[in-house]
Amino acid sequence: MRFLDAPQPSPDSPGGATSIANGRQKFVDVGCALCHTPSFKTGNSAVAALNNKPVNLFSDLLVHDMGDGLADGVSQGEAGPREFRTAPLWGLGQRIFFLHDGRTANLERAIREHASNGSEANGVIANFNNLGEGRKQDILNFLRSL
Ligand code: HEC
Repeated sequence: MRFLDAPQPSPDSPGGATSIANGRQKFVDVGCALCHTPSFKTGNSAVAALNNKPVNLFSDLLVHDMGDGLADGVSQGEAGPREFRTAPLWGLGQRIFFLHDGRTANLERAIREHASNGSEANGVIANFNNLGEGRKQDILNFLRSL
């Protein structure tokens, strides 16, 4: 498992290179990257292939309170019933169902479901909702390219 390559994002599909580049920037501007950290670096490793390499996983690997809407009522380890670890977004273009319970195959709905009573993501999702349709589509194209 450790030596499997990371998913390779497409530079221009879907929607073209310009839309994907715009989406990548908007993803940061509206605040998605506050939780979905675009890149980390691996630590020191005796194995050259794993030594100080960039990892573009789009997750902070932290647990967040996602509010009543996503709550599953399950406490696991330190995580309470409304808390989830930020899903890494690499390889998203290959996935069909989204969120911990696979409740939707609609990417825009998966984003909207981040917002509900008590969610840490409410402000960021409000920023997303305020974007024009073109800018929203850029973000969706960027996500699908991963
Ligand atoms: C407060 C932290 C936080 C913010 C801000 C946030 N997310 Fe998330 N995101 C999460 C967590 C936690 C999950 C996992 C939720 C689950 O599994 O039910 C997730 C899941 C997702 C998923 C589903 C991935 C999958 O494979 O199922 C997508 C897509 C996504 N986020 C996109 C976005 C976008 C786009 C934005 C900005 C508009 C954003 N997120 C902002 C924390 C955040």
